[in-house]
Amino acid sequence: MDTLQGFHRTNYCGDLRLADAGKTVSVCGWVQRQRDLGGLIFVDLRDRTGIVQLSFGDGTDRAIFEKAATLRAEFVVAATGTVRERESKSQKIPTGDIEIDVTELRLLARSETPPFEIVEHSKANDMLRLKYRYLDLRRPDMQRMIALRHRIVKICRDYFDEQGFLEIETPILTKSTPEGARDYLVPSRVHPGKFYALPQSPQQYKQLLMLAGFDRYIQIARCFRDEDLRADRQPEFTQIDLEMSFLNEDEILTIQEGFLQRVFREILGVEVPVPFQRMPWREAMDRFGSDKPDLRFGFELRDISDLVRDCGFAVFADAVKAGGSVRLINVSGHAADFPRKKIDKLQEYVKTYRAKGLAWTRLHEGNVTSSYAKFLTEDEQRAILDRAGAQDGDLVLIVADAKDEVVFASLGALRCECARQLGILDPKDFRFLWVTEFPMFEWSEEEGRYMAMHHPFTAPMEEDADKILTDKKHCRARAYDIVLNGTELGGGSIRINTPEMQEKAFQALGISEADIQERFGHLVNAFQYGAPPHGGLAYGLDRLVMLTTGADSIRDVIAFPKVQTAADLMMGCPDVVDAKQLDELSIAVTRTEEAPAE
Ligand code: AMO
Ligand code: AMP
Repeated sequence: MDTLQGFHRTNYCGDLRLADAGKTVSVCGWVQRQRDLGGLIFVDLRDRTGIVQLSFGDGTDRAIFEKAATLRAEFVVAATGTVRERESKSQKIPTGDIEIDVTELRLLARSETPPFEIVEHSKANDMLRLKYRYLDLRRPDMQRMIALRHRIVKICRDYFDEQGFLEIETPILTKSTPEGARDYLVPSRVHPGKFYALPQSPQQYKQLLMLAGFDRYIQIARCFRDEDLRADRQPEFTQIDLEMSFLNEDEILTIQEGFLQRVFREILGVEVPVPFQRMPWREAMDRFGSDKPDLRFGFELRDISDLVRDCGFAVFADAVKAGGSVRLINVSGHAADFPRKKIDKLQEYVKTYRAKGLAWTRLHEGNVTSSYAKFLTEDEQRAILDRAGAQDGDLVLIVADAKDEVVFASLGALRCECARQLGILDPKDFRFLWVTEFPMFEWSEEEGRYMAMHHPFTAPMEEDADKILTDKKHCRARAYDIVLNGTELGGGSIRINTPEMQEKAFQALGISEADIQERFGHLVNAFQYGAPPHGGLAYGLDRLVMLTTGADSIRDVIAFPKVQTAADLMMGCPDVVDAKQLDELSIAVTRTEEAPAE
C-alpha cells in the first residue's frame, strides 16, 4: 500500500473546471467507478465536493496504468496529473468538461465491495444503510444535508451573537426535568441507588442563567427524551435553545423572525415576509383541527353540531348530546379525484385517529351522493351543505364523536392527507405561523389530572392569572409555537418569575408541597433572590434542517440517528454490560430482551 508521504493535495475533486486546463493538480478520494476500455482506463474519483475523471491511456507510465487497472469501487487513492479538456464532455457533473491525465497514482486503501452502491438517492434498504451509516454518509445527498446543517448552525451562532446572546453550556448529567416525556437515567456509582437524568431540555438551567444576570442565552443543546419515535422525533435530538430577560412576547418573536428570515435567505435564497402570521390556539383548532396547521391550502373545518343535534341520525345527534361535536371539511373542487373507493380508504385513515367513521357527500357532475342521506331530512342535508359552502365538484367529509379532540385530530389529519393525495403541497411555499394563547393545562386521561401543556414554568396570560386554580380549563398561557407547513419547529413561553405564582402553578398541577421542595426546590428557592421577567423558546434544529433541505425525516439530517426502537444499528446499542460494571453501580437486572435490538 502506498502512503501520502511527499504528497500534497492541491484541489478538491468537484472544484476543477475548464479554466484549470493545463494546471498540474493533486487530488484524493474514493473510486466511484473504474472503466477499463482496454487501452484506456477512466476512474471517477469522489470526495465531499463531487467527482472528477482520472484518465489513463497510451501516454501513461505502464506501472501507473497497471495500478489503475486494479482499482475498484471505494478504493482510496491519491493522484497527481494535468488537467485537460475532455474529448467527450459530460453535462451530468460540474467537472464534466475536464479530466486529469494522471502522472502519479497512489493506492492508499482497498475496500470490500460495499453492501450497497454509494450513489445519490439510494434505493438501498433503510436498515442496511443505517447499519453501514459511514458508507451511507458518503453519498452526495447525505454530504449535502450534513454540510447544510453546519451552515444553519453557523448562521444561528452568528445571528444570535450579533443580537448579544452568549453561548453557555449546561450539564448533561442532571436532575429529572418535567418536559413531558420519560427520562433517560444514568446510575450513580458514588451515590448507590441514585440517578442522574439526561436533560429533556436545559429549561431550568436557562431560567437560572437569567436569574444569574446573563440576559440573553443561546445553546445548541442536545436533549434526550424516551418517547415513541416518529419521522420527526428522535430519542436524542438537538435544540437551538434561547432565553431572554426583560423582553415582552413581541420583542422575543421579532428577534426570532429575523433569525428564520436569515436562515431561509442564506440557505434557500427565499425571502420570507415578516412579521409572521399569528393565530390563537383556539382558532387554529377550530379552523384546522390542529395546533400546528399547514396554511398552504384550505379545506378548513366547520362545526355543524348545531344543525344536527336533534336530527334522526343517531351517530350525529348522540355525539353532540354526549358533549362532543360534529364537524366537516370541504375538499373543495376535488370530488372527481375521490371516487368511492378512495373515500373508503379515507374512512380507514381517520380510524387511525380513533374516529369511528367518516360520513360524506360527493357533488359530482350534477349528482349528489351521500353516505347519510337516508338518515336526515332534505332540509337538514341542505343546511349541512350550505354550512360547508358546497358546490358541484366538492367533496364534504364529516366526523362525529363524543370527544371533541377525536374530531379535531381526525379531521385535522384528514385535511392534510387529502392535500397530500392531491399533490397540492408545494415544498417551496413556506408558511410560517405563530400559534399563541395555548391553554395552560390539558387534561390527561392516562393520569386522570391536568398537566402543563407546555411546562410548569410557563406564565398564565395576565387576564387569566386568577383562573390558574379555579378554572384550569379556560386558563390560557403566554406560550407560543412556531409552525412551518404543518410542523412544529419550536416552542416557548414567557416564564413565571415570582415564587408565589410558581408555587400556585405547581399546586394547580397537583404537586404536593413536599414534592415541590424535592423536585423543584432549587428553582423556587432561587426565585426568592430576584428573578427578572424572562422568556424564551427552543427550536428543533433537526426539524429546521429537515424542512430547509426537503428531507423526509429528521433521520436524514442527523449523522448517526437511531431507528424506531431507539437502537443504533451501526454501534449495536443499547447493549448488555459486564456484571462488574453493574455491581459497581449497585444495579441488578431483572429482565433482559431475548434477541439483540434490531
Ligand atoms: P419543546 O418540548 O416544545 O420545548 O421542544 C422544543 C422543540 O424541540 C423539538 N423536539 C424534537 N425534535 C426531535 N425529536 C424529538 N423527540 C423532539 N422533541 C421536541 C421540536 C420542539 O418544537 N424547554 C422548552 C422550550 C422553551 O420553553 O423554551 C422545550 O423543550 O421542534
Ligand atoms: P352506517 O349506519 O354505519 O352505515 O353509517 C352511515 C355513515 O355514517 C357511514 O358513511 C359511516 O362511515 C358514517 N359514520 C359512522 N360513524 C361515524 C362517525 N362517528 N362520524 C362520522 N361518520 C360516521
